[in-house]
Amino acid sequence: VTSRRITEVRAGSAAPYPVFIGDEATAFVMDAWQPGWTRAVVVADDNTAVHAQPIAEALRAAGIVTSQQRIAPGEGSKTRAGKAALEDAMLAEGADRKSCIVAVGGGVVLDLAGFVAGTFMRGIPHLFVATSLLAQVDAALGGKTAINTPAGKNLVGVFHHPRAVYVDTAALDTLPASEMRNGLAEAVKHAMLWDRALFAQLMGWSGPGQTNNGRPSEALIARCVAIKAEVVEADARDEGMRNILNYGHTVAHAIEGASHGAVPHGQAVAIGMVVETRLAVRRGDFAEGELKELIALLEQLGLPTSPPCAFDDATRFFARDKKTEDAVIHCAIPQAIGRIAAGDDGRWTQAVSLDELRASWTP
Ligand SMILES: NC(=O)c1ccc[n+]([C@@H]2O[C@H](COP(=O)([O-])OP(=O)(O)OC[C@H]3O[C@@H](n4cnc5c(N)ncnc54)[C@H](O)[C@@H]3O)[C@@H](O)[C@H]2O)c1
Repeated sequence: VTSRRITEVRAGSAAPYPVFIGDEATAFVMDAWQPGWTRAVVVADDNTAVHAQPIAEALRAAGIVTSQQRIAPGEGSKTRAGKAALEDAMLAEGADRKSCIVAVGGGVVLDLAGFVAGTFMRGIPHLFVATSLLAQVDAALGGKTAINTPAGKNLVGVFHHPRAVYVDTAALDTLPASEMRNGLAEAVKHAMLWDRALFAQLMGWSGPGQTNNGRPSEALIARCVAIKAEVVEADARDEGMRNILNYGHTVAHAIEGASHGAVPHGQAVAIGMVVETRLAVRRGDFAEGELKELIALLEQLGLPTSPPCAFDDATRFFARDKKTEDAVIHCAIPQAIGRIAAGDDGRWTQAVSLDELRASWTP
């Protein structure tokens, strides 16, 4: 067996559950399957269906009634309508409280399927097979599920943890390079917040003369998973410390808004980390040399480091949810590569002004 257990997530009142990594997703699902589960609903999108197919076949071969549900790839499927369509299909085929959802995909499939699992018959079990690097290092862990509404992303959802998670490294073979970079940006974020050694590993992995196949090693991915699991355990209900995972995201959301979604999330996060860290340098809270290291790593990974638009084009996306133009904006910013701390007030974030963001937008 080429699977290895990375960690066990203990989040609040949810039952602890294991996270495995490897290239044996089918064996994982068969091992995790509980005798009391009588029906499987395997959910994938058009791009991940190829990875879901062998799992569905193995379940059927084991005598488990199995249906396959396929959604269109992309955020457009993470909607109320997408949720209703999946629920209606499950109801039509007779899924019940003893059914288990097996979600095979990136963050979109996992968020949608997890939310359906959280509310179908008041909650049924589910397993996650994460196929995108971003889902592996971030979305699959933490129990947060959600859909988007016209008012914004991830606004309606529940906390509902899977029974087990599989980080499917074989699936990365079919992941487009641009999607790999989205995940790498989140991996850099984990390193900046938590682990200088991971930062150095990413530097080495992507550095000149390295012959990697564009796919991070199992050890690199596993370290990112363990960091996310630690943060989730420390703040199961997303009441404080998990805010650190928003590092880079305040600026990223504004850039995504200003570009009407043309800048992919990972690229926006890369730029956001640079701008927010530059703000910390200007405050005297972060060493300039380490900001240069961050920029060098992002460049090595093929990620952008400067905003594609003027600050004034992005301003209104910072203020969007706020009542006044000069409302306080909060950012989580590390103090050094690999280190972030709760402030004096235990909030993990700092208030920043639009003027400071403007001054930090470019060098
Ligand atoms: N729940 C959480 O805590 C959490 C955390 C972070 C992000 N998210 C959510 O995750 C989503 C982003 O995740 P994502 O980047 O994985 O998005 P995604 O699921 O849309 O995947 C990105 C693209 O890659 C494709 N893909 C995925 N795996 C593939 C594979 N192995 N081979 C070929 N193609 C593959 C998908 O079909 C899609 O086109 C967002 O909706 C975000 O809100 C949730």
